[in-house]
Amino acid sequence: MKIFVTRAIPKKGLDLLEQYHEIEVNPHNRVLTKEEIIEGMKGKNGLLCLLTDTIDKEIIESEPKLKMIANYAVGYNNIDVSTATKNQIPVSNTPGVLTDATAEMAWALLLSVSRRIVESDTFTREGNFKGWDPMLLHGLEVQGKTLGIIGAGRIGTAVGLKSQGFQMNVLYTDHQVNKTLEEIVQAKKVTFDELLQTSDFISVHVPLIDETYHLISEKELQRMKSTAVLINTSRGPVIDEEALIQALKQQWIFGAGLDVYEHEPQVHPGLLPLKNVVLQPHSASATTESRTNMATMAAENMLAGLQGNIPPNCINPELFNK
Ligand code: DGY
Repeated sequence: MKIFVTRAIPKKGLDLLEQYHEIEVNPHNRVLTKEEIIEGMKGKNGLLCLLTDTIDKEIIESEPKLKMIANYAVGYNNIDVSTATKNQIPVSNTPGVLTDATAEMAWALLLSVSRRIVESDTFTREGNFKGWDPMLLHGLEVQGKTLGIIGAGRIGTAVGLKSQGFQMNVLYTDHQVNKTLEEIVQAKKVTFDELLQTSDFISVHVPLIDETYHLISEKELQRMKSTAVLINTSRGPVIDEEALIQALKQQWIFGAGLDVYEHEPQVHPGLLPLKNVVLQPHSASATTESRTNMATMAAENMLAGLQGNIPPNCINPELFNK
């Protein structure tokens, strides 16, 4: 069969696909336009796409031979899954393999913001270090403080477990009780409002769905401690960026660490001059291990789907439960 891959992914995944099928990979090192995706999909049975591709109804229905969509990401808000389901097309994602990489990035951001690492690095490079100074670049200590996790799924859980070394008090919000967090780090499930008001560090790990759009806006930022640090490695639109900029400028909170943005790849120009925010280019899963495993997983999903089997990480398994 024939597969269209919307952007080059690590070789291991492409090699696996090529063992069984004919593949065509986007030759450009950039995101394709909608028209280019439709063109590339012509005559293809499989679409391997990225979180940067908006796979809407028009794209899905443009190729009658399409049998499988494999997303190279755990988040799948970029795909119109209900249209795919209506057209009997399985959709898959890549959960699990990027959990630790993403959790590590959340921690890297948390520590960078708290200890003002990026600001201090710039200060030093610019030749401003004139000797040890008792008043220089004070940050926040993490040890023994309260970590609030919004969304205790796989990644939220991993972030919570990694707090053990800092002997933190862990709070979380989720629809479900998280036994792992409760047993291992004695985490406590609290209301969203309690988490906002009592956490020193807040890390967001919810998927982007209608209910989580602008989950954190002006009202929520005002509920946080003035010493709070907010970390987002989930999806940009979960936080109202305009409100966050206001909060950072007026120091309603101490700082923020962002890996994701409301209008990616645009970064709100209001964030750029702020010293109390650390910015990453949506690279939380960018470790060699994680990205390679994502490629293999996406390829395995594709192979299963093209064979008419349920992909191991199927988002619309109801297609197979008939
Ligand atoms: C995902 O897989 O959804 C991540 O955002 C990738 O970094």
